[in-house]
Amino acid sequence: MTEKIIPLADLRYLNKIPVIPARLEAPTGLLADTRARPLHDLRISITDRCNFRCVYCMPKEVFDKDYAFLPQSSLLSFEEITRITSLFVAHGVEKIRLTGGEPLLRKNVEKLIAMLSALRTPDGRELDLTLTTNGSLLARKAQALKDAGLKRVTVSLDALDDKVFKQMNDVDFAVSDVLEGIEAAHRVGLGPIKINMVVKGGMNDQEIVPMARHFKGSPYILRFIEYMDVGASNGWKMDEVIPSSEVIRRINAEMPLEAIAPNYVSETAGRWRYVDGGGEIGAISSVTQAFCSDCSRARLSTEGKLYTCLFATGGHDLRALMRGGNTDEEISTAIAHIWRARTDRYSELRTANTDGLQSERKVEMSYIGG
Ligand code: GTP
Ligand code: 5AD
Ligand code: SF4
Ligand code: SF4
Repeated sequence: MTEKIIPLADLRYLNKIPVIPARLEAPTGLLADTRARPLHDLRISITDRCNFRCVYCMPKEVFDKDYAFLPQSSLLSFEEITRITSLFVAHGVEKIRLTGGEPLLRKNVEKLIAMLSALRTPDGRELDLTLTTNGSLLARKAQALKDAGLKRVTVSLDALDDKVFKQMNDVDFAVSDVLEGIEAAHRVGLGPIKINMVVKGGMNDQEIVPMARHFKGSPYILRFIEYMDVGASNGWKMDEVIPSSEVIRRINAEMPLEAIAPNYVSETAGRWRYVDGGGEIGAISSVTQAFCSDCSRARLSTEGKLYTCLFATGGHDLRALMRGGNTDEEISTAIAHIWRARTDRYSELRTANTDGLQSERKVEMSYIGG
């Protein structure tokens, strides 16, 4: 008898194999959860590995040389990712974000992008296909990504000062290399490019105003993100969160700002623009002003578990369905049932309880996707 060996890394989190409903249904492009939130975005983690060790995401003490990253056989193949994505698109998803870990570390990522960019919404439109990267490999890969059909990129950058940036990424990576990546992406037309800065109080908050000054008047949209209690390893404390209101206050004191309307309902960032015409910035207040009430985001982990919240403790194993031979109609119906039953609103609940909510082990952001 051959015994099936399940890699340890696969057993890390609680996971359920979805039940296939008895009555199968065709997708209508419209799905709403228990709080009437539509399914609009799919964020796909394509690797749980990263060449950075950002203190708020993959602290070195936890993600060390003994850490059990997923084995190659656990990862969804490009064909599996494309198949699942097409089912989500039939349910109304129009925006796809590839994340990780660092997505550009996944071998032949441009091949996956080419496969995904061929998908169309039920009424024939192209998808908003984007990717979040730390920028380290962007200068080298920008052209190939663009050629494969990627629409835009979002680049993480936590400081302009090398010493501070290296403290944040913890692998001695220099700011200039990320800036080069951003410029390369801009040159090949992967814009509008957003720059995401996670603000951790006492570590990089002195960089808020220099970052704003640097990107003011540039083609890039800088966004400040409140440090979140995601995962179980970053040792999050509320007193290290700098509220967006404070970020805006500091910038406004030097470069006056005015609030502007959101681009779309479920937008994560609040928007401001410089009164003198120097462009816009954003603030993502996931801790102090939770945006769960409009959250239309589903997440697919590196090995094919569907998560209906960034703070989930368990996922739904879609890979098991695909590898078990279920049909598209069966998997699609299972997805519809999962989304309709969705109740998640972790950040709203945590706002009412600033110590963070602890229950079962929360999944890491590097695994589920940022
Ligand atoms: P755009 O379409 O470019 O505006 O993308 P986005 O803001 O939807 O995605 P992005 O990956 O740039 O999000 C920026 C950051 O916001 C993430 O890295 C997270 O820190 C945070 N974030 C995004 N989605 C969620 C979410 O659903 N819940 C919470 N709590 N935070 C989120
Ligand atoms: N808090 C807020 N954002 C985080 N990210 C990762 N960990 C955290 C955290 N603890 C987000 C950042 C980064 C992206 C890859 O993931 O936005 O730019
Ligand atoms: Fe890597 Fe991004 Fe996490 Fe930093 S935030 S460790 S770059 S995945
Ligand atoms: Fe959506 Fe969960 Fe984030 Fe709330 S905490 S916005 S429900 S992913």
